[in-house]
Amino acid sequence: MDEIQVLDKRFKRYISHQQIQEAVARMAAEIDRELYGKQPLFLGILNGVFVFASDLFKMVQSPSRISFVKMASYLGTETTGTVHQLIGLQESLNGEHVVILEDIIDSGLTVSKLLDHLTKQNTASVRIATLFFKPDAFKGDYSIDHIGIEIPDKFVVGYGLDYNGYGRNLRDLYVISDE
Ligand code: IMP
Ligand code: MG
Repeated sequence: MDEIQVLDKRFKRYISHQQIQEAVARMAAEIDRELYGKQPLFLGILNGVFVFASDLFKMVQSPSRISFVKMASYLGTETTGTVHQLIGLQESLNGEHVVILEDIIDSGLTVSKLLDHLTKQNTASVRIATLFFKPDAFKGDYSIDHIGIEIPDKFVVGYGLDYNGYGRNLRDLYVISDE
């Protein structure tokens, strides 16, 4: 289906599952080239990343491990603004070659908050890999090591990405229809 409805919004098919798989395979090969033999520790940021992380992890050849974290954001007091809390990091990252996995980097804030936590740990290296990237929305001051597909600053769903919880199970990526 080329046009779908998720809750109250219409979406158009935008990037096929096949194109996504090709991008993921290229990223896995890049990561293997950079980190082969260094036993990378993938750190996926939930929830949206689980589909991408699962496909990428199966394509990586280097012996590696994977773990997941969640960045919970809630409104703090007026002076502190939004507070971002890191949930789920059990293991020490001491000496680890960490590869942060994101489904999509938009403003870049989520990854920047995770990086704040990681700089307090004694990691051997930290790389960032995102399947989708919105360059026109990005406000981060860090560089992204592995990018799957650049997209315009429009809302997308599918392949793990959601609209109010729905749409994650779509195999392709869909972009919101212009009203
Ligand atoms: P950032 O912190 O602005 O980079 O946004 C990161 C998070 O916002 C992503 O991990 C997604 O969960 C969510 N997000 C950003 N853009 C989209 C989108 O177009 N569709 C669905 N979720 C999105
Ligand atoms: Mg996300």
